Amino acid sequence: MVGSVEPQTPHAESVPAHPPLESLAVQPLVNRDYESRPALFYERLRAEYGPVAPVDVLGVPAWLVIGYSQTLDILRDARGVWSKRLDSWRARREGRVPADWPLLPAFEVESSVFRDGAELTRLRGAWSEGLRPFQDRSRPQAKELERSVRRYADELITALSEGGGRTGWADLSAQYARPLPLMILGRLLGAEPGRGDEMIMDIWRMLDAGPDAAEAAQRVTAEVAAVCAAKTTSPGEDLPSYMLAAVPDLTVEELTREMVMSIGLIGDYTGTLVCNTIAEVIAGEAGVRDSVSAGMLSEAVNRAAITSPPMANLTFRWPKTDVRVGRFLIAAGDPVMLSPAAAHLDPAFTGSMAPDSIYSSRAHLAWGAGPHACLGRELATTITTIAVERLFDRFSGLRLALPADQLPWRSSPMMRGLRALPVNYELAEDPPQRSGGTGAASRSGAETTPETDSAAPEPGSLVRRILRMIRLAQS
Ligand code: HEM
Repeated sequence: MVGSVEPQTPHAESVPAHPPLESLAVQPLVNRDYESRPALFYERLRAEYGPVAPVDVLGVPAWLVIGYSQTLDILRDARGVWSKRLDSWRARREGRVPADWPLLPAFEVESSVFRDGAELTRLRGAWSEGLRPFQDRSRPQAKELERSVRRYADELITALSEGGGRTGWADLSAQYARPLPLMILGRLLGAEPGRGDEMIMDIWRMLDAGPDAAEAAQRVTAEVAAVCAAKTTSPGEDLPSYMLAAVPDLTVEELTREMVMSIGLIGDYTGTLVCNTIAEVIAGEAGVRDSVSAGMLSEAVNRAAITSPPMANLTFRWPKTDVRVGRFLIAAGDPVMLSPAAAHLDPAFTGSMAPDSIYSSRAHLAWGAGPHACLGRELATTITTIAVERLFDRFSGLRLALPADQLPWRSSPMMRGLRALPVNYELAEDPPQRSGGTGAASRSGAETTPETDSAAPEPGSLVRRILRMIRLAQS
């Protein structure tokens, strides 16, 4: 066990014994230290407030939970104190949340993330069954998925390194980590090959938040809805069809909401974990590089999940009654943001790890816990493991092209991800041929097909089109 769990105590009185959150939340969450030196920022908050700090999230006051045991306790919610329903938010009910608050559109999607009780159980049932064929490595769909990840990884590496000699420069975020899971997304959603490619291009425009992002998002939602509707009459071997088979009364609207959410989970969060893992290995402590050279890729992924959890801070929760957490009495309906990133820096968590151990703790919170815990963890880990494995097989040298403390992090209240990962590379003369590799596939003994490391993408392929769009591909 890590640290001691300090129970959150439901409180009988209705009025907090300190000024209300609104008058306490003066610290902006997103600031320069939060982006570039998060450990310093969280430690400052911890020293000033203890395990819970009042913060301003882009103009909206919220409690940020930064203690490990408090975060775990709230995630588990053993006493049923916590709600994820948007209508639990008192300030929103009272019309005090600005209509243009930047996170509102993401919250108002009202997917399973913002459900409780029986509604949540039903949607999670669909997710677990829908993902099972892709996460159970003895199943043909999982084997095929692993082969696709490996093939796309090889195509991307070939495309980003062709045209030069054995050495060169690349942005491993834009040219590798982010496009790779997007390509897998088309397969999971079961979109028709041609239309699927168009949708992936639009998803990229949407996630990149460029000038045409809003229009692209509309097209994506319409296309996802069309794909989901089609699955009700002609199911396939894909995620929406398996979810419908598990919960046949799932409406097209419900399924569409979940699939739109999966775009963020697969396209953005998984790409972020790939990128953060690569950065961790290249720039991190020797222990991580040792992990990779010893073939322990899942260990490298676990370490990256601890030091840079892609979901650094989670979407809000609201207590149904006044509840004491740390030094504060949180009023019913106050927004509470749990911070796995800060919890991982809590001495209650870090103190439990032996400094010289090559194994990192599995008790981290990067995948959440309790009734809302991540259901796609295996899938995200498999994609990340294969992506990192192929990269370190194909390149004999990878060095950051700028000092680690100057890496550009995205400015986001929830995500911890890099805007770019510029590297100088050297291609391996004789990269190991993988027939399943040391990573995900070989752990399960999955049947695999040997891949050629020189897999070159076709001229009009998705790989080439994406790389052309970001104007980084060499011709
Ligand atoms: C690296 C990538 C990912 C990370 C870091 C991640 C992390 C998380 C976390 C922290 C939660 C809990 C949120 C909360 O309690 O508020 C969560 C929930 C969830 N994740 Fe993931 N996830 C990732 C990828 C995926 C993928 C690829 C899928 C499936 C395609 C997925 C499906 C889900 C689902 C269905 C939930 C539960 C929603 C709920 O019940 O509220 N995740 N994830």
